[in-house]
Amino acid sequence: MEILNTLYSESDIQEMIVGLAKKINDDYASVDELLVIGILRGGVYFTTELTKRLTIPLTIDFMSVSSYGDGTVSSENVKILKDVETDIEGKHVLIVEDIIDTGRTLSSLVQLLSQRKPKSLKVCTMLNKPDRRVEGAMSEPDYQGYVIPDYFVVGYGLDYAQRYRNLPYIATIEFKE
Ligand code: IMP
Ligand code: MG
Repeated sequence: MEILNTLYSESDIQEMIVGLAKKINDDYASVDELLVIGILRGGVYFTTELTKRLTIPLTIDFMSVSSYGDGTVSSENVKILKDVETDIEGKHVLIVEDIIDTGRTLSSLVQLLSQRKPKSLKVCTMLNKPDRRVEGAMSEPDYQGYVIPDYFVVGYGLDYAQRYRNLPYIATIEFKE
């Protein structure tokens, strides 16, 4: 049996997104255009809600990746399932992700996208589980919604076996016999 307990309600999440959007609007106020790259599938709800609150000129693209390899962090260890359709060279890029766990996926993705010479490259994550970080992986994201302990969470884009992504809130999930 799966037991779900709400960790952040829909209104908590909206409040968090408003705060993050304010910071991002301020930080990029003098930039002519921002390219937001939402990471599929988990980052899709967060990307759409966050970008609705951004007032700076921006474009949106999506990417789907999965990390694989020997557990190390390197640009060769991220497999691109769907690439962006935008040439990111010379652009200000903000990656928007659902959660940073071990940090492998995002660290490898940052390395890979850096090779394409964006003008700037930052990371915004909805959730961060710093206790789970592996050595060599990214230390801190540029923007983060909530820092959480080592819980497995679902909802607002996050899945367990592809389910629960559509929950409008974030919940912890426990598995009982
Ligand atoms: P990392 O490479 O270990 O940082 O993995 C990040 C990816 O693992 C995320 O983009 C999620 O897809 C998945 N993930 C990590 N923790 C959770 C969780 O608590 N719930 C759902 N998915 C998670
Ligand atoms: Mg993901």
